[in-house]
Amino acid sequence: MLIHRRKHAGDGVEAANEALTPKTHRASETSEDKLKTEAVCAPWISLQDICYSYGQEDEGGQQVPSLSHVSLDMYPGHTYVVTGPNGCGKSTLFRILAGLSFPESGRYLFHGEAVTRDRMNDREWSKTFYRRLGFLFQNSETQLFCKSVREEIAFGLLQLGLSGEEVQRRTEQYMDMLDIGALAERAPFHLSGGEKKRTALAAVLAMQPQTLILDEPEAGLDEDGEARVTGFLASLKREDRLIIIATHSRRLAQEVGGEEIRMTKAHTISSGM
Ligand SMILES: Nc1ncnc2c1ncn2[C@@H]1O[C@H](COP(=O)(O)OP(=O)(O)O)[C@@H](O)[C@H]1O
Ligand SMILES: [Mg+2]
Repeated sequence: MLIHRRKHAGDGVEAANEALTPKTHRASETSEDKLKTEAVCAPWISLQDICYSYGQEDEGGQQVPSLSHVSLDMYPGHTYVVTGPNGCGKSTLFRILAGLSFPESGRYLFHGEAVTRDRMNDREWSKTFYRRLGFLFQNSETQLFCKSVREEIAFGLLQLGLSGEEVQRRTEQYMDMLDIGALAERAPFHLSGGEKKRTALAAVLAMQPQTLILDEPEAGLDEDGEARVTGFLASLKREDRLIIIATHSRRLAQEVGGEEIRMTKAHTISSGM
């Protein structure tokens, strides 16, 4: 396992500069080649001492954290598998990575730029952000809103400005890959949980984003569905792609061969790695 972690850089400018500067990383089991690549490569994602709370208080009136001092650098060419018990903060972390929630303290840099509420409210900035980053929600219902499965997949592709021909080609290709061709004209709202998950996955994957963030892609799938999705995710690895997956499936974690990031009940990353 290899994990990229570093201390919080307090100063903003220093932090931004640091994100663009080559640095060394803690690595336990890695090849020399990997270290060489990372020495010349800046992280695409840098989380710096991130804390987040939903505002709930404990009996003593203290805010209950959902993320506590999470620091992490993530690099292209890698697949990171985020594991940990229910409620440890995986989905909260992923919502921050996807620019849907914002840390209470700490910084999130994407390609060296801070992802802030103001930036995400800027249409051009967020459009560019979502061209580079695709996100699968844990609950697929949250992201399905079109009248048919086919439209659901085509929607994002049209947003990318692809030609009608290319939209059609990719829509068919990804429906085929996720084995949902027979559902093409069905309303996503009326599909089973597993069918919804495969539709949402097809919609995200068809956009071929450089950074893919998948929150429990196997949840709700039957054995065949999980095997298909696992095999497909394992095949997505590329030098210029960053993949981050939260999962409870040991099989998926093993087969995609990623680097494990273990989150704990204390809502942070295990220091035992
Ligand atoms: N919308 C919410 N409002 C209040 N608390 C939440 C909300 N979403 C999650 N939480 C709490 O935040 C913690 C982390 O949840 P979550 O990120 O969903 O964990 P995981 O994905 O690892 O199961 C849990 O204690 C959970 O109860
Ligand atoms: Mg979750």
